[in-house]
Amino acid sequence: MEEKLLSIKNNAISLILETKSVKELEEIKIQFLGRNGEITKLLKELPKISKEERPKIGSIANGLKNIIEEAISTRETTLKKTKVITSRSFDVTEPGIRPALGHLHPVTQAIREITSIFTQIGFTRVRYPEIEWDWYAFTALNFPQNHPARDDWETFFIKQQPDEKKGTVLLTPHTSSGQIREMEKGELPIKMLNIAKTYRRQSDVSHTPMFHQFEGLVVGENIAISDLKGTLNYFVKSYFGENRISRIRPYHFQFTEPSFEIDISCGVCLGKGCRLCKEGWLELGGAGMVHPNVLKACHIDPEKYTGFAFGWGVERVLMMKDGIKIDDLRILYSNDLDFLKQF
Ligand code: PHE
Repeated sequence: MEEKLLSIKNNAISLILETKSVKELEEIKIQFLGRNGEITKLLKELPKISKEERPKIGSIANGLKNIIEEAISTRETTLKKTKVITSRSFDVTEPGIRPALGHLHPVTQAIREITSIFTQIGFTRVRYPEIEWDWYAFTALNFPQNHPARDDWETFFIKQQPDEKKGTVLLTPHTSSGQIREMEKGELPIKMLNIAKTYRRQSDVSHTPMFHQFEGLVVGENIAISDLKGTLNYFVKSYFGENRISRIRPYHFQFTEPSFEIDISCGVCLGKGCRLCKEGWLELGGAGMVHPNVLKACHIDPEKYTGFAFGWGVERVLMMKDGIKIDDLRILYSNDLDFLKQF
């Protein structure tokens, strides 16, 4: 009898473990514990067993019943869990959902492109502080004390104790402050490209209070206007296209003499004149030969060394590039994804 019980138990356990569904498990349960189940039948036979053996067999049979019940319930839980996992299984041949992939901001892309164009002809990219002293942004650049650029309406000032020598603290309104930072290091010759954020109190369709400029500065012996002209033409052709040319026009800046405004031939009519440009040229930005007073402020001998500088807006050249039509510059900084995704 005992042996019979043991074989029933082993048989039941292995059948339970083999079940693949709750339904199958249900059938096993009936097979062993149902009204005509194997265990039930055994228990019914107990009265036929001798009085001495009856309690022992009875308790083994009951224990067996419990073991089988427990095995069934454990298996049930496992099967139900497996069912959840099965329902999560997926078709590997189905096309997946692409994670959204961002890209660099158009202004960052332009900065990288400009950097690569100038580094190819030996310029070194540098960065100087956005928060500057008056000395670097104005005084050393030959601005008289009463120059309107210092006015609150042009420049953002920071409420901080002015430095005795370097003056008030401000957000630099142009990258030309980098010219002074570079020259005061006293290492010549210089071939610098300073690209940085600049700040002015302005906000309209063609101005944002924060914008970027890229500033070139070359200082050495025998640097002439022709070097400036050659560099400009190289940039214009590399950035805007082989069919574009630049021209220089007399202008005035405090820190360059002579000073120029640089134009590029219009991309639509290639210099002939059209509705967009009127006379064939578009204004790019300022440039000039470094003023002797600026060299002197940086302890460089103007009799021995000369240099040229240029400073243009990154957003401006980006807008002027063929095929890019932005009618309000402020959209560049409004985090409008529909706009940004196009670049
Ligand atoms: N700093 C001038 C501006 O912001 C541009 C400039 C740079 C002009 C270098 C001459 C030389 O308008």
